[in-house]
Amino acid sequence: GSRRSSVKKIVTDPKERQRLVENILKPFILEDSVYDKVCDVMLDNFNKGLGKDTNADARVKMFPTYVRSVPNGTEEGNFLALDLGGTNFRVLLINLNGQEVDMESKIYLIPQHIMLGTGVQLFDHIADCIYKFMKEHKLENKKLPLGFTFSFPCKQLGLAEAHLTTWTKGFKCEGVEGKDIVTLLHDAIKRKGDMHVECLAVINDTVGALMSCAHSDRQCGIGLILGTGTNACYIERLENVELWDADYEEPKQVIINTEWGALGDNGDLDFLITEYDKHVDKHSINAGKQIYEKMISGMYMGEIVRLVLEKLRKNGLLFNGKGSEELSTRGRFYTKYVSEIESDVDESDFKSTKQVFDELNLTDYTDQDCRIALHVCSLVSKRAAYLASAGIATLLNKMERKDVSVAVDGSLYRFHPHFHDLMVEKIQKLIKPGLRFKLMLSHDGSGKGAALVAAVANRLKEEALQ
Ligand code: GLC
Repeated sequence: GSRRSSVKKIVTDPKERQRLVENILKPFILEDSVYDKVCDVMLDNFNKGLGKDTNADARVKMFPTYVRSVPNGTEEGNFLALDLGGTNFRVLLINLNGQEVDMESKIYLIPQHIMLGTGVQLFDHIADCIYKFMKEHKLENKKLPLGFTFSFPCKQLGLAEAHLTTWTKGFKCEGVEGKDIVTLLHDAIKRKGDMHVECLAVINDTVGALMSCAHSDRQCGIGLILGTGTNACYIERLENVELWDADYEEPKQVIINTEWGALGDNGDLDFLITEYDKHVDKHSINAGKQIYEKMISGMYMGEIVRLVLEKLRKNGLLFNGKGSEELSTRGRFYTKYVSEIESDVDESDFKSTKQVFDELNLTDYTDQDCRIALHVCSLVSKRAAYLASAGIATLLNKMERKDVSVAVDGSLYRFHPHFHDLMVEKIQKLIKPGLRFKLMLSHDGSGKGAALVAAVANRLKEEALQ
């Protein structure tokens, strides 16, 4: 029904309305100096994470991944890959043959009760899905190496040993934090029985994106995810990784999974946090954690917009003060709506915006309401794009390479109409003169990347056996 109860008086004068709307949106418009400061804070956190004496207290953990070299195009064979932690859970079969990559994949649902259940339930479910997939693809008796893209913060002790430090995004399964993901997976595969699958590598989705791009672009040095969550990895020189505990052989480099989503968990971003960000954090399943991620990524952006729209409405500045059950429901304004609304370039018709309003059962709107909603979306997504740009610029400034390609993947980046352009513009402003970069869409890094890393591990394993 129409919810006008808590609404203040409706503002009808267009000028007055404009002024009041601008006033409410002000916290999303940040000066250049604020983004400079985000870069400073980010660099400081990167260095703390890399430092031996500072890592224990660092929020941005800078995990070494044990992935040392990018693929060289000679990788070949059949591999299984798992992709967990993005929009969908997938099982993939990948055939590598030099530069050629063939893939077949299937999406399986992970029901909410499993995402919030026990670790045993989660891994049994995963083993079930692998079993079904192998059956459908007539792979029952095949012995296949597997690469696991597990997109959560892990402390790795090797390529095939990864201890989950803390769940992020929508997951919270009991009994997994602190444990090795590969052991949990192998135990579940054993329980299921009748499968010859060995997990040879666990990688983060950022690493998958980087590896998959590096397969064809030698300049690729950063992997970036802008999807349900956000995170980046990059190639670092071993001499800068104080906690590196393995060999110093060539190439003297390792991919670092920054886990930058945790920036701000110690209050470092309080100088730009809004009341909406605080609200989103407070009502999440991991309050106080992943503060930077919550200002940027797809799991939260729609909710930030919803909170602002509700505030405007309650102040008599939107929808004639009339909302809907849907607009008042937490999580009901999806991030894809932000992309849809912002794709309305033709101001005179607002086709997509009106469609979103209809889906939300809003009945009382004018073109002016559409204009304001579009403005809200573009400010929230612009802030997100600029914040992510500050992170990327900090990495580029730190890397001391002249040309770097950034492999980007994730639903937010893929579907938002302006994210790419906003980022290119802002990164350019924030990097040192003389540096050059490219943002490249990475295709299916989570599958292909996992297969590539597993392929290298498999080759080394076979060489060792000979
Ligand atoms: C979250 C996870 C991180 C992942 C990112 C993108 O931040 O902690 O591991 O890379 O989401 O999926």
